[in-house]
Amino acid sequence: MSVSPLTPATVPLREAAIDLDHWYVVASSPELTDRPLAVELWGHEIVLYRDRGGRAIALEDRCPHRFVKLSDGQVQGDRLECVYHGWQFAADGTCAEVPYLAANQKLPPCRIPTYPVREQDGFIWLYPGEVPRDRPLPEPMALPEWEHLNYIASVAPIDCRGHFSFLIENLMDMHHGRLHEDYQAWSAAKLDRLEAHGDRVNAHYTAQSHYRIDQIWSVAQLFIPALRQPHPEPLTVSYRYPHWASSLGEEFRIYCLFCPVSRDRTRAYLVHFTSLEAFDNLHKLPIPFRRFIKNSLFNCAKGMLDGLVRQDVLMIEQEQVAYRDNPRRRGPELNPTLAAVQRLIRDRAPRPNPSP
Ligand code: FES
Ligand SMILES: [Fe+2]
Repeated sequence: MSVSPLTPATVPLREAAIDLDHWYVVASSPELTDRPLAVELWGHEIVLYRDRGGRAIALEDRCPHRFVKLSDGQVQGDRLECVYHGWQFAADGTCAEVPYLAANQKLPPCRIPTYPVREQDGFIWLYPGEVPRDRPLPEPMALPEWEHLNYIASVAPIDCRGHFSFLIENLMDMHHGRLHEDYQAWSAAKLDRLEAHGDRVNAHYTAQSHYRIDQIWSVAQLFIPALRQPHPEPLTVSYRYPHWASSLGEEFRIYCLFCPVSRDRTRAYLVHFTSLEAFDNLHKLPIPFRRFIKNSLFNCAKGMLDGLVRQDVLMIEQEQVAYRDNPRRRGPELNPTLAAVQRLIRDRAPRPNPSP
């Protein structure tokens, strides 16, 4: 029996395409204003802007007149105006105004492709896939801690010249705590259990956590290493295709929200939540005060996150270069988590078209 050339195993992992039928994160909420913002998601060039009501709009970043970038133009009310001849386009992609339209001319019937876009949990989520006619779109992955008063968020953007598989493998393989020794994020990870089903891979490790957030001064451990107290904690990391979620004991929840730009470039946001759940009496404090604390401490772990990202990106970019120089070379892999992650990436990658 001949083997189909299109089996998932034949999709080159480091070039595997993304499954477009998912929500991807293309910007953080503060990055999107009433000025056009150019973003790229897996080769799709997209322009984002906010209308007068603050609603996020996403259109293909190409004027249908002469195909220049709409992101070089400006927002006029609810419309986007092209920089070249000033044609204006409505949020549904239709041409709404041509400044020099003669009395005997009609507006051109062009329509720019649009994308479903949602603002949720501090980020702009975009769905680049086929919109089903017979059922609603799935929901984007939720970050319930974003609004929760007991969790303090920090956000670090990631921009690396590497295929997204290198980044998700970095996030799922907890045997690299030593790389981050100077940040003492975690150490001595031991894989206890691995689960893989559907769009998920869950790896359960035990690791030494260096933080214990149970006193009001504990948050200072994020800045003062001498205050940290190593102790064993469960460390769970999950590939929730195409994003990542993790928890370290009760102290931390961390997410990585992906925007694969192309085969060799990946953008993402690392979102870290420090938990105040260990403070039993917190709920007795007035809500405005709790919100004040949450907002005042926003980004308190950003220094640590940026440092972790710098160290990881250095490794990922070297992996990408090594792949480019010798795509056939494979190193031995001892963590079964990565085999499960690679299987999921291959399973979700669209099959290449058979040659005619
Ligand atoms: S190219 Fe955009 S209006 Fe002419
Ligand atoms: Fe790392």
